This record gives sequence, C-alpha cells and structure tokens, in this order.
Amino acid sequence: MASLRDRIFIHIGDITRLEVDAIVNAANSSLLGGGGVDGAIHRAAGPELVAECRMLNGCKTGDAKLTRGYLLPARYVIHTVGPVWQGGGKGGAGLLASCYRRSLELARAHDCVTLAFPAISTGIYRYPKDEAAAIAVDAVGDFLEAGGSPRMVTFCCFDDQTAGVYRRTLAGLEEG
Ligand code: AR6
Repeated sequence: MASLRDRIFIHIGDITRLEVDAIVNAANSSLLGGGGVDGAIHRAAGPELVAECRMLNGCKTGDAKLTRGYLLPARYVIHTVGPVWQGGGKGGAGLLASCYRRSLELARAHDCVTLAFPAISTGIYRYPKDEAAAIAVDAVGDFLEAGGSPRMVTFCCFDDQTAGVYRRTLAGLEEG
C-alpha cells in the first residue's frame, strides 16, 4: 500500500477551485450558508446548492452531510459543522475529529477517490490552528491507513501560515 506521504497533500489556495471528487465545507448547523469558506463555496456552486441544503434539516456539530457540487469542479460538497473554540477541554477535540471521520465516511460511501478539506473551525470558530491541524492529520492518517477510498486527501490551506502548520504536523506524523 502507498505510504501516507503519497496520499496526503497540502495545497495553498481556494478550495472552490479544486478538481477533486469532493470538497468539505466548514458549515454551521443550519447548512444555509455563512461567511468564510462556507460563503465562498455557496457563491461558487450557485443557488442550487442552498436549495438542496434546505432539504437536509441542518447538521449537528461533529456530523456531516453530502450534496452535489453544482457549478463547482468538485462532484460533491460534504458539509460538516466544526466546534466553536471554547478554550479546550470541553469535548471540542473529539467533535473536530468526528468532523473529519464523518466526512471521510461519506466520501467513501460515494466512491470518492480524491477529497479536500479546509482547516475546519480555525476561522470564525477560532480553533487554534496547530491544535486543529494535529487533530485533522491524526484523523485522516488513521482513516487512510485502514485502506480503501478515498485514496488521496488534500489539506487546502488558505494562506502560507496555515500551510506551514500542516507541513510541520505532517512531518511529525512521518517521523512517529
Ligand atoms: N478556501 C480554503 N480555505 C478557506 C477559504 C477558501 N475559499 N476561505 C476561508 N478559508 P471559516 P470555521 C479558511 O471561518 O472557523 C461560516 O460563517 C480560513 O482561513 O470558513 O469552521 C460558517 O457558516 C480558515 O483557515 O470556518 C460557520 O458559521 C478555514 O477556512 C462558521 O463560518 C475555516 O474558516 C464556521 O467557522
């Protein structure tokens, strides 16, 4: 089996431009749109996305729901709801890990080979980037090591600083 190094990638840029089977959206529990990456995804996908989201009855923190991608290059959008940072120690880490796992499970159930994540919860929800990256890399690494699809996961970072955090975190994973 290919090593994790060949299956996990870091990309710097706008997730709405990625030609992957599915992109993950850092949504809120209404699933009806918002700011940050959520706003960007809804703008790029067009109004049919919110129309499909309206039929989903929202989403709990730590869970995920899948829609089509409409005008996006990605076939699907997996909407997940990360925890709001509350200073640590209140179950936030478990919920954030659950966002990654549930998204990966949905991607697998829809035969996605390639999947891209934004840095869930690290913007408007204020989760510290280094802690969030450690959780993301652990959850994705564990899932991919068990085999099967998706084959490739991209951490889509909006800026160089976030990419640096992921690079250091991934280097730690490969050493350990
Ligand atoms: N592509 C990739 N990453 C992006 C993009 C983009 N186009 N735009 C922002 N980011 P945030 P959250 C990064 O705030 O913290 C919304 O209103 C951003 O730099 O989008 O989970 C929802 O509706 C940051 O690193 O999501 C919720 O109410 C990361 O994406 C709330 O925000 C996540 O930042 C969710 O907050």
